[in-house]
Amino acid sequence: MTAALLETRGISLAFGGVVAAESIDFTLTHGERLAVVGQNGAGKTTFINICTGHLAPSAGTVLFDGHDITNHSSRSITRRGVGRTFQLPQIFSEHTVRECLLLAASSVKRRRGFWVPLEDAVDGQDVDETLDLLQLAGRARDVAGSLPGGQRKLLDVAMALVLRPKLMIMDEPTSGVSSDEKHELMRVLMRALDERGVTTIFVEHDIDIVRRYATRLCAWIAGRIAADGPPEQVLSDPVVVRNVIGE
Ligand SMILES: Nc1ncnc2c1ncn2[C@@H]1O[C@H](COP(=O)(O)OP(=O)(O)OP(=O)(O)O)[C@@H](O)[C@H]1O
Ligand SMILES: [Mg+2]
Repeated sequence: MTAALLETRGISLAFGGVVAAESIDFTLTHGERLAVVGQNGAGKTTFINICTGHLAPSAGTVLFDGHDITNHSSRSITRRGVGRTFQLPQIFSEHTVRECLLLAASSVKRRRGFWVPLEDAVDGQDVDETLDLLQLAGRARDVAGSLPGGQRKLLDVAMALVLRPKLMIMDEPTSGVSSDEKHELMRVLMRALDERGVTTIFVEHDIDIVRRYATRLCAWIAGRIAADGPPEQVLSDPVVVRNVIGE
């Protein structure tokens, strides 16, 4: 039996009259690489926010790795093994790239003495390996805020990956990156996630990227999963073509 890594049962949430999640049943198993597509406002980020503890659903249950994590804090969900990146990279702009990873790694430590230097509190070798994996080793001493767009995205993922997640959820990893750079960015990201054996969900608007990197695709329409399956099958579904791809 393949155990579910992430499962939602009847997840719902409305903002005033806007239904952002409508009774969503969803299962993800180990090793999947799921892309999520949907028009602006379809509810993709809302779903991610509910699964990662950034929003509380009005109904329904979220299970991760066999544990009920509904309404748990984002910090405790991170500790359980869910990594997450945002539409806008959440990096410490005034710190160096390496310090960003040290800070991220230390953030989940239960007890860290106030006066214990970061270097002593976390595994520096692990930090350096993660930087290397995301091709950021050469930028380790640079100030994070000085990085170009693609490398900021890589840094955002590195800060999540250094926590050794079982599942990585990336909200539009290629947004704001030029079309020339997108494929190289995804290649580096996906290779890093593969190497660490991390199951992946990513939200993506670029259908070429979806075709190239996803093993499964979910299309979101108005707070619901309208189609779910192999990418080519979902992309040829008339409802998806009409409402999501817009052809
Ligand atoms: N905190 C909030 N307060 C009020 N309305 C919200 C909030 N978050 C989301 N919404 C609304 O819920 C709906 C779904 O939003 P969501 O951000 O999940 O969409 P999305 O699919 O991620 O869109 P995009 O592709 O633009 O990122 C939208 O109508 C949005 O305006
Ligand atoms: Mg969104």
